[in-house]
Amino acid sequence: MTPWGLRNKLKSALGRSPAAAPSPSHRLTLVTPEGVAHEVTAEDRYTLVMSSQSLEHPIATGCPDGHCGKCAVDVLEDRGLAGPTEAEAKLLKEKAKPGQRLACHARIVGSGGRFQVKETWSIESLIGTS
Ligand code: FES
Repeated sequence: MTPWGLRNKLKSALGRSPAAAPSPSHRLTLVTPEGVAHEVTAEDRYTLVMSSQSLEHPIATGCPDGHCGKCAVDVLEDRGLAGPTEAEAKLLKEKAKPGQRLACHARIVGSGGRFQVKETWSIESLIGTS
């Protein structure tokens, strides 16, 4: 079960919301640094990092609390993302280039987006041989 599904189930069990309809899923495309396009499905409000977890090499991250900028992606087709929060907007000015979003912050709210991933996790990067 996803974090959002668990949250909805807990809220429903606590009577804080009516039995929620399943959250909608969205389709988007993540293009790897090697240029391979992967269409992925993500639940509503997932981040781009969360949406990449089904890939063999997910989007690389560098911090647990969204301040390093390592997860920046180029926006190739600007569809389906919520606007940047105040925190992301501040970080984008400091850590990213124009046309980028921070994948650990950017939330998916619709389909059709296309994003160029700059760096992914791999066994080699995790054990320090690349
Ligand atoms: S992983 Fe550090 S800002 Fe996204």
